[in-house]
Amino acid sequence: MSRLKPVLITLTAIAVLIGLALGGGALWLYSDAKVSTVGSTDFSNELAVPPLAKSTVKSDGTRVFELTMRAGEKEFRTGQKTPTWGFNGDHLGPTLRAKRGEKVQVKIKNALGEESTVHWHGMHLPAEMDGGPHQMVAPGATWAPRWTVNQPAATLWYHPHPHGKTEKHVQRGLAGMFLLHDEKSDRLALPRKYGVDDLPVIVQDVKFDGAKFDHGHKMLSDTGFLGNRTMANGTLDPYKEVGDELVRLRLLNASTARIYDFGFSDDREFALVGTDGGLLEKTTRMRRIRMSPGERAEIVVRMKPGEKATLRSFPNDSYGDSWSKRFAGGDDSFDVLELRAKKTLRASPELPAELGELEVPDGADSVRGRFFGLRTSGINGRTMQMGRIDETITRGTAETWTVRNEHSTPHNFHIHDVQFRVLEVDGKEPPAELRGAKDTVFVPGNTTVKLAMRFDGPADPDTPYMYHCHLLYHEDLGMMGQFVVVEKGEKASKVRTPHAHAGH
Ligand code: C2O
Ligand code: CU
Ligand code: CU
Repeated sequence: MSRLKPVLITLTAIAVLIGLALGGGALWLYSDAKVSTVGSTDFSNELAVPPLAKSTVKSDGTRVFELTMRAGEKEFRTGQKTPTWGFNGDHLGPTLRAKRGEKVQVKIKNALGEESTVHWHGMHLPAEMDGGPHQMVAPGATWAPRWTVNQPAATLWYHPHPHGKTEKHVQRGLAGMFLLHDEKSDRLALPRKYGVDDLPVIVQDVKFDGAKFDHGHKMLSDTGFLGNRTMANGTLDPYKEVGDELVRLRLLNASTARIYDFGFSDDREFALVGTDGGLLEKTTRMRRIRMSPGERAEIVVRMKPGEKATLRSFPNDSYGDSWSKRFAGGDDSFDVLELRAKKTLRASPELPAELGELEVPDGADSVRGRFFGLRTSGINGRTMQMGRIDETITRGTAETWTVRNEHSTPHNFHIHDVQFRVLEVDGKEPPAELRGAKDTVFVPGNTTVKLAMRFDGPADPDTPYMYHCHLLYHEDLGMMGQFVVVEKGEKASKVRTPHAHAGH
C-alpha cells in the first residue's frame, strides 16, 4: 500500500497535467480560431473587375467563347508573387455573357499540366455538357461543350469539378462568372452597366504563407479551408469608386468553405433583387443576407454623394452549437469592399417593385419525394462513386426533395442542371432571401429544408448530373451523389468510369 501510494499520486498528477494541457490547448485553439478584419482594412486597392469575355458568332448563330486554364502568378501584395491558376489570365476568369435563347459554345483548353473540368454552375444544360467529374479534360486537350441557353436572366458561375480535387482547383483561382440576360431583364429599370453600376463581386477568403497561398485546414475545423482575410475579384482590401445613386452588386460566394453574412457596416438597408437562378418576384428590402459557398445574390444599394459604404460579413448565429460555430467560422467578421461615391452622382431610376414570375415549381405538381440525409461521412450513408447512379428521375416531372443535415457540422446542398424553390426550412416558410430560384441552399446543423424542382431534360441515361455539399472539402470527401434524367420507363445505364477527354 505504502509503495503504491507515490505511484498513484504521480499517475494522478500526470493525468491532471495532461487534462490541463488538453483543456488549455483546446481553449487556445478555440480563441485562436476566431478571425476578423473589421476596422483593420485600409481599402487601398482598386477593385479589379473581370473583363467581359470576347466571343464570336458563327453563321448558325452560336456564340463561341474561348477559355484557357493555365498556371500563372499574381502580385496580390506588392513585391510578393503568388503562384496561381486562372482562365485566360493569372487568376480567376473573364465574365461570360449570353442571352436566353442563344446557342453558346465554350472552347476550353486545359494548359494546366493536370486534368480538370469546367462546370457551369446553375446552368440548365445536357448532362454531357455539364462539366462535372465525368467530363474530364486531359492536359493539353480542348473540350468544347455547346448548348442553348434556356433559362431566365441570372448570375451563374463556372469552376472546375474534378472528383476529389475541386477544393484545390478553385482555391488556386479557377472561377468566373456567367451572366445571363433575357427580354424581361433587359426591360427592367435595374442598374446594368457592367463594371460601373453593375458590379461582379466574387468573394473568397484567403491566407498567405509568405508569397504563397496557405491552403491548410485549421485544427479542429471540419468544414475545410478557412482563410484569415477576404478578397473580392482577387483584390485584397478593395475599394470601388461609384458614380451612380444605385449600385447593383452581384455577390458570389466562391469561397470553398466560408459562409458569409453580408450587410453594410452602418446597417443600411439594401434591396435584394435576385438569387442563384435569377430575379425574385418582388424587390425585397433587408439588412443582412447569408451566403454559403456557391450561392449568388444580386443586391442594390443606394449611395449618397461623397459617402463611403462598407460591405461587411458579420458574425452569424446559424451554425448550431457554439463549438461548431467557432470552428466553422460563425464568429468571424470581414470588411469585404468599400464603395466610394463620387461628389456628384448620376440619378438612377427607382427600382421596380415587381420583377417578374418565378419559373421554379411550387411543389403542387411534384410526382415524388426523395430524402437526402447529410453527414460529412456521406449522403444517405454513402460516399460518391463515379460508377453508381443514386437517383433515376423521369424527364419532365417535378419532385420534392427533403434534405436534412443530420449532425451539427454546417453543410449546404447544390443540385446540377435545375433551379429549385425552397418550400420550407424546418417546417416553416423560408426567409425572404430563400424565396427566389435557387440551386444551392445552406443547411445549418440539424436543419431540414424542402425543395421543389422540375427536371426538364434532355434525357440521357448514360451521363449523370451531380448533387452535393458545396463546401468543397466535403464534396471532395464524397458528400456527392449522381442522378440521371431518363424518359418515362427507361432505366439508367451502367455508367463507365470516364477517361479524360483526349482532345481533338
Ligand atoms: Cu458549383 Cu457541382 O458545383
Ligand atoms: Cu453546379
Ligand atoms: Cu458539407
